[in-house]
Amino acid sequence: MPEIILKNVTKKFGDFVAVDNLSMTIKDGDFITLLGPSGCGKTTTLRMIAGLETPTEGDILIDGKVVFSAEHGVNVTPDKRNVGFLFQNYALWPHMTVYQNISFGLENMKWNKDRIKARVQEIVEMLEIEQFQERYPNELSGGQQQRVAIARTLAPGPKVLFMDEPLSNLDAKLRMDMRTELKRLHVETGSTFVYVTHDQLEAMTLSTKICLLKEGVLNQYEPPLDIYNRPINTFVADFVGNPTMNFIDAKATNVNFDEIKVEFNGVNTLFQPSDGQVTLSENQEVILGVRPEYIKISEKGSLVGKIYSTLPSGLETVVKVDFEGLILTVVVFGDVDFIVDEELRFDFTGDRCILFDKDTKEFITQGSLTVVT
Ligand SMILES: Nc1ncnc2c1ncn2[C@@H]1O[C@H](COP(=O)(O)OP(=O)(O)O)[C@@H](O)[C@H]1O
Ligand SMILES: [Mg+2]
Repeated sequence: MPEIILKNVTKKFGDFVAVDNLSMTIKDGDFITLLGPSGCGKTTTLRMIAGLETPTEGDILIDGKVVFSAEHGVNVTPDKRNVGFLFQNYALWPHMTVYQNISFGLENMKWNKDRIKARVQEIVEMLEIEQFQERYPNELSGGQQQRVAIARTLAPGPKVLFMDEPLSNLDAKLRMDMRTELKRLHVETGSTFVYVTHDQLEAMTLSTKICLLKEGVLNQYEPPLDIYNRPINTFVADFVGNPTMNFIDAKATNVNFDEIKVEFNGVNTLFQPSDGQVTLSENQEVILGVRPEYIKISEKGSLVGKIYSTLPSGLETVVKVDFEGLILTVVVFGDVDFIVDEELRFDFTGDRCILFDKDTKEFITQGSLTVVT
C-alpha cells in the first residue's frame, strides 16, 4: 500500500512562490489534512501530488515509485498515479442516474458488466444510497448528491483519495454528518486520505495528522492534539482552536532553572515549566499563551476581573473578562451564564500555559502559572 513522499517540493507561478521547499511523508492509511488560510498553497500541494500541477523543484514518490522528479525529468501522468479525486465542485452528470454516475468511470476502465454491478452494489450500500440508484441528481438533496460524488470517486478503489474542501458547499448540520461519514469511510476503505480545508475544526476532528501551511511554508506537521497542545509558534496556536488562545504580552525572568517569574498587566506570577529547564534573559519579552479553557472562574480565584460579554451555547459559555483593560477569553463548560459588568475572580489552571518568544513568535516552553500574592 502506498506511502507518499514529498522531497523539497517548490512551486512557483512566475516569481511568486506558492509552495516553498515542502518535505513531508504521508504514511499508508493516514488521514492527512492540509490546513491553512486561503492562498497558503493547499490546493497547489494536492494538485502536485495528484499530477495536475507540475512542481518547479523537488521529488514526489508514491508507493516507492518516483512519480515526479524535477532533476531526473520524471513526470507520471495523473491517471497512472492510482489516485482518486473529490473536488469542491463535485458536479455529477445531470443526464445520468445515480447508478450511471457511479458506473460510468468503471465502464471507461473496461471493467466487465458483472464486476461493475457488484462494485456499484457494494459502494451504494456502504454510502447508504441504495434506494436512489435510479434517480437523477436533481432529484436528490445536496447531502445525497455529495454521497453519490463520494461513491463515484471510491468506486474504482483508489488507494489514495484526494479531497479539496468537499464539504464547503454544505450547510452546517450536513457538514457535521458528512464529517462523521468521512471518518467512518476512512476506516472502512483503509485508503489514504489527503484532505484540504481551511476549517480548523474540520482538520482537528478528521485527521490523523495536520499539515499546517502558512504562505507556502510548512509550519507544523503533527497529530491534531499535539498541534493543539504544543503549537510551535503563535501562528499555529492562533489558527487552531476556537475560541482562540489568549496572547498576553509579558516579561519573564528565571528565578532558577525550573521556576520563571512572569509579569503581565501588573501581576506577578510564577511559571513552572512542565517539560524541562529553560534559560531566559533577564526580563525577556515573551508572549504568554493561555487557551480559554485554562482560565478558571471561581469565588476563591486570585485575580479580579469584570464580565465584558458572555455567549452561552448550552454546552459551554464563552466569557470575555475585562482584567484591568486586558480582555481575556474564557470558556466555562456547562449551561451557565454570567451578568455583564459583574465582578468575578479567576485563576490559571493546568500545565499547558505557553511562553512564546516575542521576536521570533516561537514556542519556548509550557507549564503551570500561579499568581503570586
Ligand atoms: N495557476 C496559477 N497562477 C498563478 N498563481 C496561482 C495559480 N494557482 C494558484 N496561484 C496562487 O498560489 C497561491 C496558493 O494557491 P492555492 O494553492 O490555490 O491556495 P489555497 O488552496 O491554500 O487557498 C495563491 O496565492 C494563488 O493565488
Ligand atoms: Mg484551495
